[in-house]
Amino acid sequence: MKEIKVFKTQDPKEKPQEKDLAFGNVFTDHMFVMDYSVEKGWHDGRIIPYGPIEFEPSTMVFHYGQAIFEGMKAYKNKEGNAVIFRPYDGFLRLNRSAERLCIPTIDPDFACAALKKLIDLERDWIPKSKGTALYIRPFIISTDNFIGVRPSNTYKFFIILSPVGAYYTEGFKPVKIYVTDKYVRAVRGGTGAAKTPGNYAASLYAAKMAQDKGYTQVLWLDGCEHRYVEEVGTMNIFFKIDGRLITPTLDTGSILPGITRDSVIKMAKNLGYEVEERLISIDEVFKAHDDGKLEEVFGTGTAAVISPVGILAWKDREILVNDGKMGKTSKELYENITGIQYGIIDDCFGWIEEV
Ligand code: COI
Repeated sequence: MKEIKVFKTQDPKEKPQEKDLAFGNVFTDHMFVMDYSVEKGWHDGRIIPYGPIEFEPSTMVFHYGQAIFEGMKAYKNKEGNAVIFRPYDGFLRLNRSAERLCIPTIDPDFACAALKKLIDLERDWIPKSKGTALYIRPFIISTDNFIGVRPSNTYKFFIILSPVGAYYTEGFKPVKIYVTDKYVRAVRGGTGAAKTPGNYAASLYAAKMAQDKGYTQVLWLDGCEHRYVEEVGTMNIFFKIDGRLITPTLDTGSILPGITRDSVIKMAKNLGYEVEERLISIDEVFKAHDDGKLEEVFGTGTAAVISPVGILAWKDREILVNDGKMGKTSKELYENITGIQYGIIDDCFGWIEEV
């Protein structure tokens, strides 16, 4: 295993109060950085004080967005130990995104070791109360100073950490979702399955329009027919129809393969639910509502955890789901996943890595 040098800050920051935590606006004292060059491969992994970094204006990532990222969380379990939820799976997905964006892959074992070392140093930054966590943001950017279009020959890999509360300003209350049939997030053959900044940049316009109308986020439909449900802005989506859980299939290649999505599928099956991963059209969802069979809708994501959807708007219709309240199944799944994450429920899936 390569050595990871640690350069500690001389100027530690004051930690925020847990009750004030929002999402993504506070960063810890240190970060992990590693460089890539064609000659040396990934090298010089180090932990340094968190702070500004200097790049030339010609740095490739600013021009063509050749970059990828991940989202994971660390928690304090009931014994007070630091644990990370599915970090290896996160780095495997980072590598799948890397391949799609022509970025050199990383060694997931080394990345996990680097992350654990960073979390170990920053363990006092992990909040303890329910609904809070230390959000982990690994990312890779292209760093050649060049403005022609080609893959970069140099890269930087970072891991930064941020103590967080709920992702949405609604907290864990049901969100209002606007179904857009005008704009699309991804197309078959595109980069929809990769976690790359361009997908999020492309989503901002429709999301802003939805927010201007009073909705929290956009639900995307497929890029060809504007008919099949794909995902919500920062979450995968599940529907409970007539007792069964249905979530869009990943086979289209245009949906982010969420780690919380995968966890929810496995937990739900384990709890005895029938789970279907398949194409689901927006007409089917609205018809299920009209037939009185749409029981629950919820989103899943690392940042959002499990977020119930209270209202769905599409074309000229707005439907209320489960009276705008969190449903029994969403609650059960939320309690199960957070129970595993905070060490209250036995981790029978082997998802927790202790630091
Ligand atoms: C996550 O859920 O971790 C995400 O990356 C979504 C978002 C905050 C961009």
